[in-house]
Amino acid sequence: MFFYNSQKQSDLFTALFRYYSIAEDKIILGYGLEDILRTLFDRLLPKKDCVVTSDFHFSYYTDYLQKIHITTYTFRCVEKKHIFSFDVEDCITQCKKNNPKLLLITSPNNPTGHVITVKELIQILNAINKNTIVVLDEAYYGFDQHYDEQAFLSLLNTYANVMILRTFSKYYALAGLRIGFALCGTNVIQNIGYQQRYLGFSRILEEVAVAALHSPEYYQKNAKKIIKTREEFIQQINMLNHFTAFESKANFVCIKIHTPAMKKIKKEQKQQVQIGKLIMKQYMRVTMTTPEMVHDFYIFLKNIDKKINI
Ligand SMILES: Cc1ncc(COP(=O)(O)O)c(C=O)c1O
Repeated sequence: MFFYNSQKQSDLFTALFRYYSIAEDKIILGYGLEDILRTLFDRLLPKKDCVVTSDFHFSYYTDYLQKIHITTYTFRCVEKKHIFSFDVEDCITQCKKNNPKLLLITSPNNPTGHVITVKELIQILNAINKNTIVVLDEAYYGFDQHYDEQAFLSLLNTYANVMILRTFSKYYALAGLRIGFALCGTNVIQNIGYQQRYLGFSRILEEVAVAALHSPEYYQKNAKKIIKTREEFIQQINMLNHFTAFESKANFVCIKIHTPAMKKIKKEQKQQVQIGKLIMKQYMRVTMTTPEMVHDFYIFLKNIDKKINI
């Protein structure tokens, strides 16, 4: 007999349940996190519901929310020398003032690479309305050696309004596979009125994802290499005069381009391998690909730096 529509037939649900010790009915699977975010966003009501997120955020959030006429309020990210952080007080103020349906916190944050601490998150969770769903988007999970996974996962037991998002796109380098998932606190699924897929999820994609979950050594080794490349790159960039690299816990680094370097970057970047992408104002996000490509990109920036110094 074949249970056509039963999620219990899903190998990935079972694997995630074993991996995270979370009941299968508190897991949402999506075709990438984009699919899950879209599911959350599409349930919001224009003119009634709003969203709060940080001022430096994944551009998809506001691109999509704007299109469906949902107002977004932002709280500050604080920039200090080589480090970004979330302004927790401002986050609480924005939530109290606007009473959002969703609070989106990305950690490590895209595009800055900085993280929220569990203490900061608890401070926010204790201060805001329990009807606000707090979405912790951990798309860039896996590149922070000091991440206390148990402390974050245990929030799901204590706070019914928390959702933790993960994807196979970054740490597992399977972006084309399109699989993401959400681990949900007790009230989330009911609060958003989510219905599990009646006919289930693609079995082929699930098999690849399960194989990835069962290969921790391979991915840990990979992440170690990326972390090493990242730390070396940050150190090298911060020796230059016209660029600042920020501390990052992701597989990319955010760089501030000081004013004299900006014009030269715009002129010359077309000739470069596109691992660096200009983002808001004077910042660039550089992806940690292979050590060789990252080194080439450092040399590109170093040459620009040298030309300005002459
Ligand atoms: C912060 C963040 N969340 C979610 C996503 C979407 O991930 P997925 O490939 O799982 O749709 C991205 C993709 O870049 C991202 O940067």
